[in-house]
Amino acid sequence: MTASIIDGKIIAAELRGRVAAEVARVKSEHGVTPGLAVVLVGSDPASEVYVRSKHKQTQEAGMASFEHKLPADVAQADLIALVQKLNTDPTVHGILVQLPLPKGLDTDAVVNAIDPAKDVDGLHPTNAGRLASGMPALSPCTPLGCIILTKSVHKSLEGMNAIVIGRSNLVGRPLVQLLLNENATVTIAHSKSRDLAKLCAQADLVYAAVGRPEMVRGDWIKPGATVIDVGINRLPGAEGKTRLVGDVAYQEALKTAGAITPVPGGVGQMTVACLLVNTLRAACAIHK
Ligand code: GUN
Repeated sequence: MTASIIDGKIIAAELRGRVAAEVARVKSEHGVTPGLAVVLVGSDPASEVYVRSKHKQTQEAGMASFEHKLPADVAQADLIALVQKLNTDPTVHGILVQLPLPKGLDTDAVVNAIDPAKDVDGLHPTNAGRLASGMPALSPCTPLGCIILTKSVHKSLEGMNAIVIGRSNLVGRPLVQLLLNENATVTIAHSKSRDLAKLCAQADLVYAAVGRPEMVRGDWIKPGATVIDVGINRLPGAEGKTRLVGDVAYQEALKTAGAITPVPGGVGQMTVACLLVNTLRAACAIHK
């Protein structure tokens, strides 16, 4: 059996199209242009690529995009002052501070300074707590994308066994909550878990979000399972180029899985599309 490929490119493009149509409606019916502010501190090359892509896709969806670039040695107080200014700016409905922040800056303090109503990353403790309590909340974009990709294969996740490998605030933990909301049975695995292969063997849905290249092996996967690979790892490739690989040994997993996301072209495509969804949601809630 060869797994079917879950095409994040196509699914993300469809989602962006739906967002653009809704943005046009909100503009014409309510006179509101949803606006997203992205704050980039320092010059991490991977973060710069993400931020450029967010800027382009936000504009293509018909939204306003505001970029704020600050030097890596910015004072914590100045960064928080910018966030507070964005909190009160009526043209800004979503605020995203690109992570990771350079050393010396207090990520928790910066995230806590964001108005929860504009927290399109879903990282503020108010939104994380609401999600964990089963209340409506702005939720982190990558886990939202994972759920949409899974639902492109399975209409309902009710009663399915899911394993989430990784427990970060940005992916693993919120993904667990979203899966619980879908009535899945969830196992949370992490670097201290014992016998990951055995845990995976019981899972109908496997989510790999550990940041370790090809850690999940093909023979761990239950035949026919759906595999969602959140990892994006850069390895040295041919001719001095870098090669992107996920957290799953893709060629191996293709032989056992029922459906699988590629890297690149899987989850990564969905994150920015879901950021646009969250910005639109935030704008509609603010102008309700
Ligand atoms: N860095 C990598 N992914 C993300 C994300 O989803 N949000 C933020 N703020 N930073 C990131």
